[in-house]
Amino acid sequence: VNAQSEVNLNIKQAGEQIISKHIYGHFSEHLGRCIYDGFWVDENSPIPNKGRIRLDVVDALKKINIPNLRWPGGCFADEYHWRDGIGPRNQRPKMVNTNWGGVTEDNSFGTHEFLELCDMLNCEPYIAGNVGSGTVEEMAKWVEYLNFDGVSPMATIRAQNGREKPWKVTFWGVGNESWGCGGHMTPAYYSDLYKRYATYARDYAGAPLKRIASGANADDYNWTETSMKAIGSRMWGLTLHYYTIPTNNWKAKGSATNFDEEQYFNTMKNCLKMEELVTKHSAIMDKYDPNKKVALVVDEWGIWTDVEPGTNPGFLYQQNSLRDALIAGTTLNIFNNHSDRVKMANLAQTVNVLQALILTEKDKMLLTPTYHIFDLFKVHQDAKYLPITFNSPEYGFGNAKIPALNVSASQDSTGAVHISLVNLDPKNKISISTDLNGLKWKTVTGQVLTSVKITDINTFSNPDKVHNAKFTGAKKSGNLLKIDMPSQSVVVLELK
Ligand code: AHR
Repeated sequence: VNAQSEVNLNIKQAGEQIISKHIYGHFSEHLGRCIYDGFWVDENSPIPNKGRIRLDVVDALKKINIPNLRWPGGCFADEYHWRDGIGPRNQRPKMVNTNWGGVTEDNSFGTHEFLELCDMLNCEPYIAGNVGSGTVEEMAKWVEYLNFDGVSPMATIRAQNGREKPWKVTFWGVGNESWGCGGHMTPAYYSDLYKRYATYARDYAGAPLKRIASGANADDYNWTETSMKAIGSRMWGLTLHYYTIPTNNWKAKGSATNFDEEQYFNTMKNCLKMEELVTKHSAIMDKYDPNKKVALVVDEWGIWTDVEPGTNPGFLYQQNSLRDALIAGTTLNIFNNHSDRVKMANLAQTVNVLQALILTEKDKMLLTPTYHIFDLFKVHQDAKYLPITFNSPEYGFGNAKIPALNVSASQDSTGAVHISLVNLDPKNKISISTDLNGLKWKTVTGQVLTSVKITDINTFSNPDKVHNAKFTGAKKSGNLLKIDMPSQSVVVLELK
């Protein structure tokens, strides 16, 4: 039935709302093989690197215009003591990474190395400070070390460690998951602590901090309500963490590669829950902040499956299929459509962990289907948001139904319009027709990501199985734009 239904997209003209590029941010934690093996290689490694930072990974991330990178955690952030990660590497103390596999962390990748990486990526650093097991003084001194330009105890140590000028880091996380691994606090207790830590994390000249408070887990609306009431405009942003779990069971989450349609359907249903979460958290924020000054920062999202068989369960290494690409496209469409409140987001995580963009194996690297979605969607970064309404066909399994289609659109500074569409239905195509509400355009071009099976993945022996290709299913017919969306696909169109 869906194949016959013709969907009408009603696009409105652009207003002032911008889709912040920071929605397209990423996350790199000291977890499994994200930093070590992912970004950072051994001394004397034959893998091409600059100062031990992998060049293939840097090049790939630059191509998708990575806007920001979050570090050092995650749960790791609340056990990280930054002073252990500066100075001569052979003198840095080691620590146990108690959260992730109980492995020894040698602190060879620390503040200078992370900021060098951000420099190479040409992206903004987003550092999460330690509230759970660190002190107010420790956080205050880290900010001084990073941002003070002048004579001070921390600026002197920074210069001795080879960096004269401050980096001027502005995105500043005050703890992580303070309701859980970050200290198991109540929202009221955390709000008070936030104010203490945030007060002494100072704004130095040229580096006003964008302080980001640790926010809710999924549908914990009470956390958002309490934080908005207690902290309000003392924060630049409030976070939300939500992961898509295929089975709804954290103890047996489901395989990344081996799943049937029932599990696929359930996964997409869970992925679409982000729409409800963002809507409801935003509504609470609107009550206290009607002018939308405080950002909703979804700084952990993505699919979380069981680890690949035979790998360390504490390392969270999972493969990435066409299903993951549909999750990425859908979630980014949701964020674009809520860009009045969602100003920043970070997929978990960049390399070798959870819904990774990149997988590495010694000197080899592959780009996952999720990477290709970020490549397609980069056209929305900092573009003007175009509101869209439409009636989606339904995709049903058993007695349950979800919308098969999700869409977002924007107009860039040259006037080009970009429409990103996701068809979640694994069997039926969708026909779309729209007059674009008087928008002037002459040509349409596009790219598509799809594959034969929803479980298709890229492997080190076949790294290009799932990739972007030229899309020929869109055409101009009089004043109408007509689109034939293949089943289980993501399409991004450019109209000029
Ligand atoms: O991304 C993996 C972990 O998930 C993070 O460390 C933590 O913040 C979340 O629970």
